[in-house]
Amino acid sequence: MYFFVILPLLSLSFWCTIKKSIPAELHGPALKPVFEGSLPENNNFLHSADAVHLSLVACGDRLDESIVLLKSAVLLTHQPLIFHLFVEDVLQKNFRDQLEFWPDEFKRKIYYRIFPISYPSDQNSNEWRKLFKPCASQRLFIASFLTDVDALLYVDTDILFLSPIGAIWQHFNNFTALQSTGLAPEHEDAVTGWYNRFARHPYYEPLGVNSGVMLMNLTRLRKSNWQSAILEYYKIYKMYIVFGDQDLINIYFHFHSDELYIFPCHWNYRPDHCMYMSVCKSAEQEGAAIIHGCRRVMHTDKQPAFKAVYLTFYKHRLGADLQYSLLDTLKRELDNVSSTKCGQVRYIFSKWIEKEILNSPTENGHW
Ligand SMILES: *[C@@H]1O[C@H](CO)[C@@H](O)[C@H](O)[C@H]1NC(C)=O
Ligand SMILES: *[C@@H]1O[C@H](CO)[C@@H](O)[C@H](O)[C@H]1NC(C)=O
Ligand SMILES: *[C@@H]1O[C@H](CO)[C@@H](O)[C@H](O)[C@H]1NC(C)=O
Repeated sequence: MYFFVILPLLSLSFWCTIKKSIPAELHGPALKPVFEGSLPENNNFLHSADAVHLSLVACGDRLDESIVLLKSAVLLTHQPLIFHLFVEDVLQKNFRDQLEFWPDEFKRKIYYRIFPISYPSDQNSNEWRKLFKPCASQRLFIASFLTDVDALLYVDTDILFLSPIGAIWQHFNNFTALQSTGLAPEHEDAVTGWYNRFARHPYYEPLGVNSGVMLMNLTRLRKSNWQSAILEYYKIYKMYIVFGDQDLINIYFHFHSDELYIFPCHWNYRPDHCMYMSVCKSAEQEGAAIIHGCRRVMHTDKQPAFKAVYLTFYKHRLGADLQYSLLDTLKRELDNVSSTKCGQVRYIFSKWIEKEILNSPTENGHW
């Protein structure tokens, strides 16, 4: 069953190259999806060079926001989407049911696989599971589990797409031959920077990187010593790590800066970019392409602009008109928070999506 689905994703020679390049001790058990979507008949999109791969890890109370995230991805995409979802056991069935409940016109645009949370067999999985947010450290190991995937966008569950996902994927074309990973800076200025002022471990200089939106070329990660180095850094810096996997990623790229591509802050737009003053210049120009409601701001009243965007996507019914149901509601909700700091630059939250929706001749399923 598994191979039936996987093989169309890659040529046999590709599979062999990958297997050879992974040292035996790092090659985890062949990971089988617990559930997977059905491939629409005659749909060729798994072979399509056009397909965009998206991965996330959902544990604890993150199911709803993960579904809203995937909904934002499918609403605006122009390309086929392949979801690689690592989901805690008790949530797996519910997760699948919610995706299967999507209208056909959206299901046609996706293929999904739901995997169990998995760590290398020689590691203490309870320890990794608890590092920072539950299960977030999964990302450190996916290159060795998803051996049939060349590259993917890995995101935290508290992000939303305000642009077609193909737009961030374009950055892969700008990677140098050495770069395996793309990330945004953690801060825009040294005065408010956390790593430069407080970190007691090495980090990517000058201001660290945020791991919430991460382009990963898995082929290159498998060829590099990424996983063994991460395990080694964990042993050395364990006592100094505050933000779990993100700190490990910072430590890795401190020592391997030529493997990291930096994209600007509007690809990972956070409360820090507007809560005191507007500091993300690229977002002022382009609009936020992806927002990241870290510290749970999608669900609390601390940053109402982020919550307003979340609620708009949460309430939007798949299939409803994008302009009237999504865009107009979004702007109305944002107007209602105009007195807050982030609300003062609320155009940042609607600019890209407005451009996208108003310029799109056929807003639903044009392929
Ligand atoms: C990639 O680089 C080109 C040339 O510098 C630039 O025009 C383009 O905007 C870049 N792509 C992205 C996604 O930033
Ligand atoms: C990832 O790296 C491999 C090996 O360098 C390359 O062939 C492939 O095109 C890259 N994938 C993307 C999406 O850039
Ligand atoms: C505006 O915000 C207030 C207070 O949060 C809320 O009660 C009201 O329903 C909101 N109005 C709209 C149009 O969203």
